[in-house]
Amino acid sequence: MNNAVLSLSGITVSLAQDRSTQLVENVSLDVERGQVVCLVGESGSGKSVLARTMMGLTQLDRGVVVEGDVLWDGIPLGRRSHEKLRGRDLSMVFQEPVGSLDPLFTVESQLSEALRRAHGRIGLSETRRRIRELLSEVGIPDPDRVMRSYAHQLSGGMCQRVMIAGALACEPKLLIADEPTTALDVTVQAQILDLIARLCKERDMAVILVTHDLGVAARLADRVAVLYSGQLVEDAGSDKTFTSARHPYTRGLLDCVPLMTGPRRTLLTTVEGSVPDPTNRPSGCPFSPRCARATSKCEEMPAMNQEPERRFACWNPYPEPADIAGSLV
Ligand SMILES: Nc1ncnc2c1ncn2[C@@H]1O[C@H](COP(=O)(O)OP(=O)(O)O)[C@@H](O)[C@H]1O
Ligand SMILES: [Mg+2]
Repeated sequence: MNNAVLSLSGITVSLAQDRSTQLVENVSLDVERGQVVCLVGESGSGKSVLARTMMGLTQLDRGVVVEGDVLWDGIPLGRRSHEKLRGRDLSMVFQEPVGSLDPLFTVESQLSEALRRAHGRIGLSETRRRIRELLSEVGIPDPDRVMRSYAHQLSGGMCQRVMIAGALACEPKLLIADEPTTALDVTVQAQILDLIARLCKERDMAVILVTHDLGVAARLADRVAVLYSGQLVEDAGSDKTFTSARHPYTRGLLDCVPLMTGPRRTLLTTVEGSVPDPTNRPSGCPFSPRCARATSKCEEMPAMNQEPERRFACWNPYPEPADIAGSLV
């Protein structure tokens, strides 16, 4: 038995009208307490579909069919049990902070509602005290003013902090944040990300952070799961991802990020082209048309290779650094 709070087991999401079109294909992934797992991949790779499936939201969408299991503490979730977890043990921060707050209600009334949903009825003064505490916790210096404000009176960064406060109101065991800082400028972005990482450690919470930016992952991730065209191509501890990624797609993504640390990566080439549309995915390894290392073997989909602290799906992976050293002798 592992320590996973949430696990995905063989999750496939396909279109109801055309089951051969798969938005996510056979993804298995564990998320452990106190750990930030970054889910990375280019736009269109299926990150949001997977995040929404963890929340049990894709399962409510009549346009798609979800196969496989989402497990909580090792037990598969049904629709009802998933719903019970949402807004309690499981909460999510969406990409658009301003749009996610209700323009007609003050921050106080929206956070009161979140608290009530999570903890049942509590008195007015206790509610206010908790809201003030939550707002301070997410780094808002003047909670009283912000409580009385409406979304349009706050900056994007403030709205996103309020959204995170709302997501934390229930003291979740797992926080899923889907590109929570894309709409914000870089300094605010860094503050919000550091905040999420700090809360993860302080509260021993699990975090899934969805991002298309490996620079963000380098800063926060304990583990990095790389998605390409709906498939998990590599899943490894951050150290391994950033020093010795095995999958050519992970290497290509890394090459697009100017990292301040680590050796210069002379072996890499940037990835040309784009993620295929799910309706038009090539057979075999979907990355092969863009891959410099592709061979005829790649016409067949590779199985997951298991190594300590790492999994990857590739026929022609980059060697481990030790192997490179060996080959030079
Ligand atoms: N409800 C849906 N119905 C049909 N196609 C969808 C639906 N949701 C997402 N898609 C498609 O699935 C693919 C992956 O989308 P998404 O998960 O949003 O990518 P990402 O978040 O990685 O940018 C895209 O091609 C998108 O158009
Ligand atoms: Mg997305």
